[in-house]
Amino acid sequence: MCEVIATVLENKKIAENVYSLTFYVDEEITIRPGQFVMIGVGAYLLRRPIAVCMAEGGRVTVCYQLKGGGTKFLSDNYKAGEKLSVLLPLGNGFYVEEGEQKVAIVGGGVGVFPLISAIRAYADKKDVYAYMGFRNQNCVCMEYEMRRGKSLVIATDDGSMGYHGTAVQAFMDDYEKIKPDVVLSCGPTPMLRALKNAMEGKGIPVYVSLEERMGCGIGACLVCVCDKTDGKHARVCKDGPVFEIGEVKL
Ligand SMILES: Cc1cc2nc3c(=O)[nH]c(=O)nc-3n(C[C@H](O)[C@H](O)[C@H](O)COP(=O)(O)OP(=O)(O)OC[C@H]3O[C@@H](n4cnc5c(N)ncnc54)[C@H](O)[C@@H]3O)c2cc1C
Ligand code: FES
Repeated sequence: MCEVIATVLENKKIAENVYSLTFYVDEEITIRPGQFVMIGVGAYLLRRPIAVCMAEGGRVTVCYQLKGGGTKFLSDNYKAGEKLSVLLPLGNGFYVEEGEQKVAIVGGGVGVFPLISAIRAYADKKDVYAYMGFRNQNCVCMEYEMRRGKSLVIATDDGSMGYHGTAVQAFMDDYEKIKPDVVLSCGPTPMLRALKNAMEGKGIPVYVSLEERMGCGIGACLVCVCDKTDGKHARVCKDGPVFEIGEVKL
């Protein structure tokens, strides 16, 4: 992990309330799919955690939804050429074992963005089946990147595009057909809960990336602690954000 002063290359709106920010880092950095960055925003004391969506040759892209003051400030003030203070790469990221050939990817809301990094990492070597859920068609973005795998199902809550329903429902409809070896997921907690229930007893590893409020992002402040099913606790920023689904309470 290191702190870098990156140069903003582009910061543009790509869907309703969603921006894509690409910055250049003049250092050799290896970023795993599922890892995240902490971005310093103006005079805000706490950096904002955002998942890495794409990383290639010093160019890093994150996609963020406008939520509160920090993300609004980021969208308004960081144009091409501006400098950005970033901590990266953070967290453990996704791992897929050698023998796990069929990889199902199930994402919802802003959870689709870290999963794009997984699609990009595994599309050439594995059979990647992606199920991505959005509120409606105006929220759908990065479709080209999500299509890199073997198949993509876009699901919308209101049926305005693709499958009418959630990404988990779309995935479970296809489950017997694809019989995945491993599932990677990220999205709102109710979605992860639904996935956990649906996958109960199937005997297939399911890895989920969690989102918690963060202070430091590097394991020091304990703001991001989550409950584990064994009664212990874990720091989402340092021990996660990716956990085996049975390991954490949802
Ligand atoms: C590991 C990780 C990866 C993430 N990846 C993405 C991503 O790819 N795209 C995206 O749009 N969002 C992502 N988020 C959520 C994003 O961090 C928050 O939406 C953002 O910090 C909100 O900041 P704000 O100042 O606009 O909102 P405010 O609500 O004003 O923020 C106040 C404080 O709460 C924290 N906070 C608020 N909401 C969240 C949240 N949901 N998760 C964590 N901290 C929060 C902020 O960081 C800040 O410290 C991720 C969160 C985590 C933990
Ligand atoms: S955010 Fe500080 S320990 Fe995780």
